[in-house]
Amino acid sequence: MDGNGRWAQRRGLPRAEGHRAGARSLRSIVEAAAAHRIGTLTVYAFSSDNWRRPRAEVAALMLLFRHYLTEEVEECLRKGVRLSAIGRRDRLPGFLTPLIEEAERRTRGGDRLHLRLALDYSAREAIVRAAAGARTREAFSQALGPDVDLLIRTAGERRLSDFLLWEAAYAELVFADELWPDFDAACLDRALQQFRSRERRFGGLTGYDEAWDASTAIA
Ligand code: FPP
Repeated sequence: MDGNGRWAQRRGLPRAEGHRAGARSLRSIVEAAAAHRIGTLTVYAFSSDNWRRPRAEVAALMLLFRHYLTEEVEECLRKGVRLSAIGRRDRLPGFLTPLIEEAERRTRGGDRLHLRLALDYSAREAIVRAAAGARTREAFSQALGPDVDLLIRTAGERRLSDFLLWEAAYAELVFADELWPDFDAACLDRALQQFRSRERRFGGLTGYDEAWDASTAIA
């Protein structure tokens, strides 16, 4: 969800205003994603490297997450959205962890869309943790989460920035120029159109018919 800072800067506003606008954008994209029958939507809200930002910006973001978690639970329940968080919890401010747990508990039954907030998240760290706790590749994948089909990065950036590195092994990447606060339902539609136009081969070949090949080999 890149571009909040630039969005604010262009309007002569503090960066925190950009993040607030980003939260509004998230609300409308959650609704649009559910309408498109997307099963899981994972949003990168705070990376483990974001702790390096100015203390005031980090504090503003944490308060925004608190506000979101408090306000959005009822909305999620109404919309059938299951809310959960991925990432480390031990470094988040003490007021956030119980709110995350409560949101997860209350929205557990949501079956229309699973919204995952990546908070204090690092894919590399998640991979190391999953590898330490899993004996098989299946258990490892399960510890991380579902594979990503479509990964959208906004604001003209062209990086993965330590986001879902394992899960996105065969993800289709869409880069949008819109700043996140300007990313609306029409932008999501365009990203999905691009996704649908891609040919996904997962390393195989299209138009290759093994049965046909086998029969020619017999002949
Ligand atoms: C990156 O844009 C954005 C973030 C580090 C924060 C993302 C958070 C939100 C969108 C707030 C809403 C989320 C929730 C869960 C309430 P940037 O600040 O790096 O933008 P820039 O590249 O233009 O400076």
